[in-house]
Amino acid sequence: MKYDFDEVIDRRGTYSIKWDSGEQLIRKGLAVRVDDDTIPLFTADMDLACPQPVLEALRRVVDHRIFGYSDCTVVPEYYEAVISWFHRRYGWQIEKDEILYVNGTVEALQIAVEAFTQEGDGIIIQRPVYGPFSGTIDNTHRKLINNQLLEHEGYYTINYEDLEQKARDPQNKMMFLCSPHNPVGRVWTPEELRKIAGICRKNDVLLVVDEIHGDIIRKDVRFYPMAAVADTDPMIICTAVNKTFNLAGLQCSNIIIKDPELRETFRAHAGYRAPTPFAIAALIAAYQECDDWVGQMNDYIDGNIQWVLDFLKERMPKVKCARPEGTYILWMDFRGYGLPAEEIRDRIYNRANVILEAGSVFDPEYAEGYERVCLGTRRSLIQEAFERIARQF
Ligand SMILES: Cc1ncc(COP(=O)(O)O)c(C=O)c1O
Repeated sequence: MKYDFDEVIDRRGTYSIKWDSGEQLIRKGLAVRVDDDTIPLFTADMDLACPQPVLEALRRVVDHRIFGYSDCTVVPEYYEAVISWFHRRYGWQIEKDEILYVNGTVEALQIAVEAFTQEGDGIIIQRPVYGPFSGTIDNTHRKLINNQLLEHEGYYTINYEDLEQKARDPQNKMMFLCSPHNPVGRVWTPEELRKIAGICRKNDVLLVVDEIHGDIIRKDVRFYPMAAVADTDPMIICTAVNKTFNLAGLQCSNIIIKDPELRETFRAHAGYRAPTPFAIAALIAAYQECDDWVGQMNDYIDGNIQWVLDFLKERMPKVKCARPEGTYILWMDFRGYGLPAEEIRDRIYNRANVILEAGSVFDPEYAEGYERVCLGTRRSLIQEAFERIARQF
């Protein structure tokens, strides 16, 4: 079936963080103005309708009219769907026993930290990176160790020498790898993945790989799951239907841990967790019946990204921005305007009335003057937002 991603769907009044939590954003200092005319292009979910088979599966759950406690461990189709998705799309073989349900990827990061490190231990991340990586480390009283990514003309690579040095410190016990990387949009190559995994294994640093954006990839790029290219167990791989099928509100992540001892320790720390009947039904439909939707969604996102890149080149050439290899995120460098970050924010958030996400959320030290935009929405809204922004510069 052909999906219409240009459809206008009003998300206001649907408990949406992106569309309904404006007042909170202002209180937290993440926005300065919110009214009926505000265009929110922050938080990484999409304004696109879910695939038809997922909607039908959810309707069947509703029509049953009872929503009692549920248990995915008695649903073979749940595991078959996860296994089938990663095998047919990426050649990655997972066994049923290796799959642990957790209600959210950020939750999984926290469980991993608490299960395998002690207070004061170092956890390596690569800034600029998804804010809750830092938040998880701070909340659990671990030490944030930054292996700063290297940037050249908006394209990011890894500083292996620095990574090796940080991994060698016996105080540093874990690494969070974002693959594909939010916000810089890199899809790491097999060589890059193997190098990272090799450094971690050599130095006994437990690798936790967040692959939640792995299915949202440009047409000419290939995503490689870490475990499919680097046979360097032990490691913890976080997968989810949340981003791929726009199901974040159902909070359905599957954590893949091949090493039995590691898996049992993780399970013991996670405690009892079970997906809702909605999440179970949605996951089975999504992973088994929605490849065509994912293909069309990726085409649409490719188009959105290309439109913004062309627009920036023509109308705002001082904004530096590389084409992301994956994710629906653009990481834009506004420093070419030579303006203080506050002034950039005032022009975008207040005068243009568009909410983005400030660079400092991803890297408080080096990303002042950067802004992240999420392009998982209808093109007409993106066009209006960028027209408004361009008028202010
Ligand atoms: C890299 C990354 N990991 C995790 C999450 C959140 O995942 P979840 O909703 O499964 O907790 C996001 C959401 O933006 C993300 O970008």
